[in-house]
Amino acid sequence: MRVRAPGKINVYLEVGALQHDGYHELATAFQAVSLFEDVVATHADGFTMSVGGAVDLDGVPTDDRNLALRAARLLAAETGYEAGVHLDVHKQVPVAGGMGGGSADAAAALVACDALWDTRLTGPELHRLAARLGADVPFALRGGTAIGTGRGDVLNPALARGRFDWVLVTSVDGVSTPKVYGELDAHRERHKVDIGPIATRPSVDAEVLHALRAGDPAMLAAALRNDLQVATLRLRPDLAAVLEHGEASGALAGLVSGSGPTLAFLCGSPEHALELRTVLAAAGHDALHVHGPVPGARVVG
Ligand code: C5P
Repeated sequence: MRVRAPGKINVYLEVGALQHDGYHELATAFQAVSLFEDVVATHADGFTMSVGGAVDLDGVPTDDRNLALRAARLLAAETGYEAGVHLDVHKQVPVAGGMGGGSADAAAALVACDALWDTRLTGPELHRLAARLGADVPFALRGGTAIGTGRGDVLNPALARGRFDWVLVTSVDGVSTPKVYGELDAHRERHKVDIGPIATRPSVDAEVLHALRAGDPAMLAAALRNDLQVATLRLRPDLAAVLEHGEASGALAGLVSGSGPTLAFLCGSPEHALELRTVLAAAGHDALHVHGPVPGARVVG
């Protein structure tokens, strides 16, 4: 059973207050993009996995620290399924890159095991298990374009038309998501950044929804926002020059993807993205052309 799940870009990410559970309240707009994780699930007695792919696989565990294996175990525990599975994960999404690759593996593993084992969970049941695995897992199940609130796991679909072209610049070294959130808290403390009263919920700017609905990249470029960017750039100051280079080379706008360090440059057309990719690759960057939105986790064979 082969299942494919997409990576994502947060085209808008407003970070609110730190909650008692250690998570921050968010308002985000997710777009699933054409960089995919494939998970092949086969019958086995125990729970094992292997990992391959064109990305740097350093730091990807193949034991129970891996979210895909945890997803399979969770589904088995919740449904009373008694045998196991072998998961073979083929990665395209950069590891620890801020594009939700590990979350996509978990979403794909849930869908693959549910189909392989014939446990037949409903959409809402799968969503609940996904949310227990991590804040970005529900979106990888759903794909497309969606607004996330709460920890990012409470999803509402957003109307989106057309196609958005992006050039991604990936980094060899990943950054840790908790470290980026911690750096943001420290930054806000240092600069006494007022994020408003606790009761004021973060919310996605109306301009973002409008741009997605209109399928208008220039309008979306003007509305891109990522509150984590200041923290990621503090941990990875080298990225600031790359952002400037991309924008000076014709991107409509650039931003850090999620907690980074992947950078995402929005382009006006596929041709425009190809040109920008060529310029950035010639400067020695690992640059990829992707587009969104694309569907969430689904069986492909
Ligand atoms: O849920 P996930 O494992 O993706 O989150 C990783 C870490 O990122 C959390 O442990 C937390 O430190 C941070 N985080 C957060 N607020 C969110 C999502 C993640 O502080 N809404």
